[in-house]
Amino acid sequence: MNPTLLAPSLLAADHAHLAAGLIEVEQAGLEWLHVDIMDGHFAPNLTFGPQVVAALRKRSSLFFDTHLMLENPIPLLRPFAEAGSSLISIHIEPDFDQKAALGKIRELGCQTGIVLNPDTPVEAIRPFLSEVDLVLLMTVQPGFGGQSFREDVLPKIQQVHTWRAEARLRFRIEVDGGVDPRTAPLCLKAGADTLVAGTAFFKPTGREALLTAVLG
Ligand code: DX5
Ligand code: ZN
Repeated sequence: MNPTLLAPSLLAADHAHLAAGLIEVEQAGLEWLHVDIMDGHFAPNLTFGPQVVAALRKRSSLFFDTHLMLENPIPLLRPFAEAGSSLISIHIEPDFDQKAALGKIRELGCQTGIVLNPDTPVEAIRPFLSEVDLVLLMTVQPGFGGQSFREDVLPKIQQVHTWRAEARLRFRIEVDGGVDPRTAPLCLKAGADTLVAGTAFFKPTGREALLTAVLG
C-alpha cells in the first residue's frame, strides 16, 4: 500500500515569496510540492513557467509534482523536466497524443501522471493505468484555488482504486481541489493516497487540522 502523502499547492502560496512557501512545506515535514502550471487556454489562468520551477529547484529538494493544465503540453515537457520536475502529469481532455507524451515524460527521467477533470467520465483514463505512476482526479474545475470540493467525484476515486487492485498496479491516486480537514477523510476513505491542498495548507490558520486529517 502507498503511504499517504500531502502535497501543498504552490498556487496558494504568496507569489512574491515562493521560496518562503517551500520552506513552510519542508518545515511541516512534508516531501511533496504540487506545482500548478496553467496556460490561459485549457485553464483560465496563468501561473508559473519553467524558469520559476528551475529557480525553486535550486532552493529545495522537495518532490516537485508538476500538474500541467495545458492545451498542448508536448513542447513544454522537456523544459519542465529540465527545470527539475520529479513527476509530470498531463490531462486526458485536450486533443494530443497522451501515450506519446507519457513515454516522453518517462524518457526525460520523470515519473508520469494522468489527470481527469470532474466532468470527464472515469473510463477515459482506463487505457493509461498501466503507463502511469499517478492518477490525479480533479475535485474542482482547473483554474483557481479556493473552490468547493465536488463530492460527485468520490465514486470515481473508488472506481480507480478498484481497477488498481484488480490489475495489481501500484500508481498513486491523487485528489486535487477543495481538500480540507472535512473533505480529506472522504478522499482517503474512497481510496486516495495523495492529497493536494492549496488554501487549506497556506492559509494562516487550520494547517494543523489539515495535517492531522491527512496524516493522522
Ligand atoms: C486547481 C489546481 C489546484 C488548486 C487547489 O486548478 O489544480 O491544485 O491549487 O487549490 P485548493 O486546495 O485551494 O482547492
Ligand atoms: Zn493541481
